[in-house]
Amino acid sequence: MCGIVGYIGKKSAEPIMIEGLKRLEYRGYDSSGLAVLSEGKIHVRKKAGRVSRLSELLQSEPVKGHVGISHTRWATHGSASDTNAHPHLGGYGEKEVAVVHNGVIENYSTLKKQLENEGIVFKSQTDTEVIAHLIAKNMNGDLAEAVRQTLPLLKGTWGLAVISVQNPNLLVGARLGSPLVLGIGEGEHYLASDSSALIGHTQKVVYLQDHELCLVTADDWNVENDQSSRVDSPIHSFEWTNTETDLNGYPHYMLKEIYEQPESIENAMRGRLSDEDASAHFGGLNIDAQRLRRAERIILTACGTSYHAGIVGEYLFEEFARIPVEVEYASEFRYRNPPMDQNTIVIAITQSGETADTLAALRESKRKGHPALAICNVVGSTIAREADGGVYLHAGPEIGVASTKAFTSQVTVLTLLALYLGRMRHLSSLQGTRMIEELRRIPDVIRRALKCHDKVKQIAEKYHQYNNMLYMGRQYLFPVALEGALKLKEISYIHAEGYPAAEMKHGPIALVDKSTPSIFLVPSGSIFDKVMSNLEEVKARGGPIIAIATENDPKAEYIATKADDVIFIPDVPEYLQPLVAVIPLQLFSYHVALLRGCDVDKPRNLAKSVTVE
Ligand code: G6P
Repeated sequence: MCGIVGYIGKKSAEPIMIEGLKRLEYRGYDSSGLAVLSEGKIHVRKKAGRVSRLSELLQSEPVKGHVGISHTRWATHGSASDTNAHPHLGGYGEKEVAVVHNGVIENYSTLKKQLENEGIVFKSQTDTEVIAHLIAKNMNGDLAEAVRQTLPLLKGTWGLAVISVQNPNLLVGARLGSPLVLGIGEGEHYLASDSSALIGHTQKVVYLQDHELCLVTADDWNVENDQSSRVDSPIHSFEWTNTETDLNGYPHYMLKEIYEQPESIENAMRGRLSDEDASAHFGGLNIDAQRLRRAERIILTACGTSYHAGIVGEYLFEEFARIPVEVEYASEFRYRNPPMDQNTIVIAITQSGETADTLAALRESKRKGHPALAICNVVGSTIAREADGGVYLHAGPEIGVASTKAFTSQVTVLTLLALYLGRMRHLSSLQGTRMIEELRRIPDVIRRALKCHDKVKQIAEKYHQYNNMLYMGRQYLFPVALEGALKLKEISYIHAEGYPAAEMKHGPIALVDKSTPSIFLVPSGSIFDKVMSNLEEVKARGGPIIAIATENDPKAEYIATKADDVIFIPDVPEYLQPLVAVIPLQLFSYHVALLRGCDVDKPRNLAKSVTVE
């Protein structure tokens, strides 16, 4: 959470940092600020609200200089105000330093008391300000040394960028638990909390590891560990380009990303389907076939939307590979210490590869000696680097805070894995070949599914003023019901619950009345009649009903007599229905949010990448 951009070079730091902050706004957007060094002084500008408000401030109060640090915030300690926005200053005059920080300092109140007893006056309610005062206190002409002396005093997590008056040609970065990337240019360098901030400037990056510190000048850089020994850090290149991160004519990233799904699903499959073996294969799993064959249990762990993809994965693995699977919220799993036998494989599912709880769950599994794999989108992210192996989604950047294309790519990769594991065990080559054919058709099917857009928009107009909604699905569509409800909550702030359709009799049906619409997922399939019975139970209690049904289904007329509105989606086998049925739900939440005047891409209180516990 929170975004950091730092610059040192010959250009003006301010526009580079503002551009980078705008790219990082998905990490947090309640306030922002920057500090630039010039003429022996640190000049700070900070503003509550979006980065655009900081830009406005800079129009009337510009700052000039070639060295700077900046930050967009997702508040943890202290409200979203001008004062609590980063950077924070420590020291005075020539001892002054400025700090931006991602993460949480757990012992900040003890440190703050000590510093206050020494006469230091705090300006903000943040935990970060203690870091600035401690570095300033240790400042003796050598910023790097002052940071080295400060870090052991802190308990918690940090991605830090620091500048000082005494060393005006030096940018210092440090990392523990919060990502930090060093961008390498010609006669200029960058620090950023993730490489997307550097798009358009450089594609060469060094990912700092935990406990590392970097010293950056315009012409040189140097990474050291916590023993102050130089580290030979590899330089990576990242591939995202401006075109991928532009809106390309779409009004919102969320809509753009919904429409990218035919291609992103295709990318998730590219080169991974083998007609010869009637199976799937993967380049980076790093786990031999025998070990996988011996797997007696798989634990899928994730947060948010990725967790919902995990539940689809559970159903897929159990059906096709006949392996027992458990899906665990990473935040619970990391502290639960469940018994795990030696043939358990853990798979973390994450779009960003930076979610703090998912990372901790992965580390805990590795510590216990289990193979820990990752299904991840962001190349070079912490989870991608720390996993023993895994599969990239290749979905391209997902910028809208509400996850859409990452979900369908995760489900696609999980389907490929189910095919791969299944072919090692029970699936015949005929079954494998059929699955491959069905999977190959999916991108076109999604293109057709997107044609429901106008209909969904009309339905959103009819229902956008309701304050509660229920989403019902069974089997493969239960996790889709959860995901549909999450999408609506996230961006329209409507209370929504996803439920297994039959389970609603054990509670949620009490909520049903004419002011609580239910969205029923009733495509054709083995449990169609069962879901229809559940639908009728809601109908009998006066609840408005929207049904998601299969086009050209002979039972469509029957559904239309029961539901108030019906959205049709193309027919696919049941195990592929999550990929298709989620499309109208994504579009529905998008339009409802728009009609309610919500900020679709940057919903209140949320952040795309949750790097704190
Ligand atoms: C945040 C995002 C969600 C995302 C979740 C897990 O809550 O707003 O969209 O599903 O984190 O993120 P991950 O990057 O691990 O998939």
